[in-house]
Amino acid sequence: MKQTKPYLCLGIESTAHTFGASVVSGDGNVLSNERKLFTTETGGIVPQQAAEHHVQICEEIIQSALEKAKKSIKDIKLVSFSQSPGLGHCLRIGGMVARSLASIHKKDLIGVNHCIAHLEIGRLATKAKDPVLLYASGANTQVIAYEGGKYRIFGETLDMGTGNFIDTFARILGLGFPGGPKIYELSLKGKNFIPLPYTVKGMDVAFSGILTNLEQKFRSGKFSKEDLAFSMQETVFAMLVEVAERAMAHTGKEELLLGGGVACNKRLQEMAKIMCEERGAKCFIPPNEFLVDNAAMIAWQGILQYNAGDRLKIEKAKVDPYLRTDDVKVTWR
Ligand code: ATP
Ligand code: FE2
Repeated sequence: MKQTKPYLCLGIESTAHTFGASVVSGDGNVLSNERKLFTTETGGIVPQQAAEHHVQICEEIIQSALEKAKKSIKDIKLVSFSQSPGLGHCLRIGGMVARSLASIHKKDLIGVNHCIAHLEIGRLATKAKDPVLLYASGANTQVIAYEGGKYRIFGETLDMGTGNFIDTFARILGLGFPGGPKIYELSLKGKNFIPLPYTVKGMDVAFSGILTNLEQKFRSGKFSKEDLAFSMQETVFAMLVEVAERAMAHTGKEELLLGGGVACNKRLQEMAKIMCEERGAKCFIPPNEFLVDNAAMIAWQGILQYNAGDRLKIEKAKVDPYLRTDDVKVTWR
């Protein structure tokens, strides 16, 4: 009997620093996953500059994703892109590229929600079935789970994302961007725990007060960078793990999935595993390439929605920088 080959989706990610392109097959094989990060010496992101970076490298990244997958644009059936949420300037570049490719090459088009894509690629990569997602990235920090037909946000940051908080702290200490890995290295040399404000409000967290406190402590000259980095991680990751655990208790779910670049941090991974072990739950951690912003998750999310019958008309393909996770209509579960 003739076997039909699974179709291919080209996914495009451009919500913030990262421009990515990836080819994924309908049966969940990631054939390529290319990305390039907009970085600066001083750390901050100027949306227009990031968008300009994406314009300059988009062709190269898409070409490279096709080459690595040993495919040409002719082999692609479907183009998916991050339609929400994110920085408007950056989202629009990915949206424009996806719309152009779909219309010039006559491909089907799907727009996806970036936060939900983090959860779905995690399910694909780890075989978690129905997890609570602790999603901690640069701009986003949310605890998300599927309940009552939607992806609900059970808790979130009330001010900045965990990654932006850690990167700002790193900048105060004089470390470059991205600060997350450097802070982790420093924390391993920390010996003394310094008490810091611990800000959990119900299922939400906040970081600005902790940041001010850390800056004051650092400028006082009384504390070492190493001890501050160590104490920051212990405090902030305990907050994240606490709200994730509360969401698990509330929903009765027995799986935790990590997502977002901050989840690459080995100490956060360790704390999440300990919490899960203590409550007899499972902890799922995808490989780093699927934790940070990546286009494979956008391609896979596109496939899930396409299989569920979603189609996006080019004239409806406007990006939505502020769409909330719980406003997304879920057709694929
Ligand atoms: P978005 O909020 O749109 O997802 P983003 O592009 O900032 O935005 P990510 O790539 O998911 O998000 O995460 C970036 C964060 O992850 C940064 O704060 C960075 O310092 C941190 N990070 C990345 N890699 C590591 C690592 N290996 N160890 C610790 N932290 C890391
Ligand atoms: Fe992300």
